[in-house]
Amino acid sequence: MAARATGGENLASSGGPHGVTVMIATSQATQTSKRMIPTVSPELRTRLANQTVLVIDDSEAVCTAFDVLLSLHGARVLTASAPAQGLDTLKRESVDLVIQDMNFRREATRGEEGVTLFREIRSLYPDIPIILLTAWTYLEMAVELVKAGAADYVAKPWEDARLLTTVRNLLDLRRAQTEARAIHRQRSEARAELAERYHLCGIVYESDAMHTLVSTATHVAHADVPILITGPNGAGKEVLANIVQANSSVRDRPFLKVNLGALPNDLIEAELFGTEAGAFTGARARTGRFEAADGGTLFLDELANISGSGQAKLLRVLQTGEYERLGSSVTRRTKVRVIAATNANLRQAIREGQFREDLFYRLNVIELEVPALADRRDDIVPLARAFLDGGHTLTPDAERALTRYDWPGNVRELQNVIKRAGLLANTPAITASTLNLPAVAPPAADEPAIDKPTIQEALERAKGVVAHAARDLGLSRQALYRRMEKLGLKLE
Ligand SMILES: Nc1ncnc2c1ncn2[C@@H]1O[C@H](COP(=O)(O)OP(=O)(O)OP(=O)(O)O)[C@@H](O)[C@H]1O
Ligand SMILES: [Mg+2]
Repeated sequence: MAARATGGENLASSGGPHGVTVMIATSQATQTSKRMIPTVSPELRTRLANQTVLVIDDSEAVCTAFDVLLSLHGARVLTASAPAQGLDTLKRESVDLVIQDMNFRREATRGEEGVTLFREIRSLYPDIPIILLTAWTYLEMAVELVKAGAADYVAKPWEDARLLTTVRNLLDLRRAQTEARAIHRQRSEARAELAERYHLCGIVYESDAMHTLVSTATHVAHADVPILITGPNGAGKEVLANIVQANSSVRDRPFLKVNLGALPNDLIEAELFGTEAGAFTGARARTGRFEAADGGTLFLDELANISGSGQAKLLRVLQTGEYERLGSSVTRRTKVRVIAATNANLRQAIREGQFREDLFYRLNVIELEVPALADRRDDIVPLARAFLDGGHTLTPDAERALTRYDWPGNVRELQNVIKRAGLLANTPAITASTLNLPAVAPPAADEPAIDKPTIQEALERAKGVVAHAARDLGLSRQALYRRMEKLGLKLE
């Protein structure tokens, strides 16, 4: 019998859609008897429409039985009576699902041919779901093959309703996988295109959120405006600052980084603007960072730690390019591109009188907000893989555990977890138990304390959109939900 396609429409209309009784072969293949075709549900028809199923079975009766059943439900059915013919059809046609017999010759009863066919299809077309048709005596072998990657098996004689459910589920799964792969491909292409045009400084991501953020960073990099990078601890703010600098018009000029969080408050101004000899006890003449970075870029990390007088001087240098060294009355000029970063909620700091509003608006001409890792779970596994040293891999259960965890310490925590697991693992494959992640994420230690009225106000301003309120409060969505739950706040 030649492989052939049957239009589902014809069969369905010739028999009528409900409770059709058709004289066809039973699954025992040799006798003919009455089979009840189950009622055709419109929902099933839509799901099976435009899907191609290949049936490979040496019994014409079995092929016809599947042809009628599946065509009636809208699928396009191709049949082949021998393994070689089936493989031929797969080469020519785009097939969504294979149903294959295990025995092809009357005298062959141990299913070897079926196993060979299965392995061949699996290796040539790893993504096509395969349903094995098997006599009940070989169920054990079928179960083994399911473990080896067959999608499912159906014991002869089969029940139409169960078979249809299996087919539908597998086709749905395949469709979802195909869509996911298409999205993945589009994302990879978009990423590759960006990487071709810009320096991405080794950043790893998969999520749409990060793609948007990284493209924005590369697009605004050349503009001569300050940039404010916000986001929780360890989320990758500095990585983003590196990308901005590396793609700016001053990428070959000095790039200095100052961590304002690591400096005692009274030294911050000296560090930024420099000192004149004798400015304070023991002070020597010293160049400040604004002077050293002249013509280039200054990265001000942990911006929220700067005092009121430091803020005033920073505002001035941003507005006019002018500053004085500590202890000097000589006004100096500098031209520096400032990138500032903070994990603090500056909007709240402004409300509390801790941060100047005018400085905030001067700095956040462009704000790049790095989302918490828990809000872009697509990035977790690619990042984890990138952090592995050459000798290790992650088992699927390890990847699942990583994806489920909440990562209060974000990418830095992930990096540390992978590094530790690499040291502890006795085998090249790192398992979930080596990762040893806590079942429930501990609350992030660095999350600022925010009281109930502030959260209520933010939710009102955001008209109940939690994501917006969270951004306003400088929290991740998860963190805001946690707080709302703790404070007994519910959305109306
Ligand atoms: N998308 C990413 N791809 C690759 N590495 C990343 C990414 N994001 C963060 N990292 C790595 O994770 C670590 C933390 O990132 P980074 O220092 O940029 O975070 P941060 O937001 O500045 O943290 P903090 O608030 O503590 O200063 C760094 O080692 C960085 O290289
Ligand atoms: Mg940082």
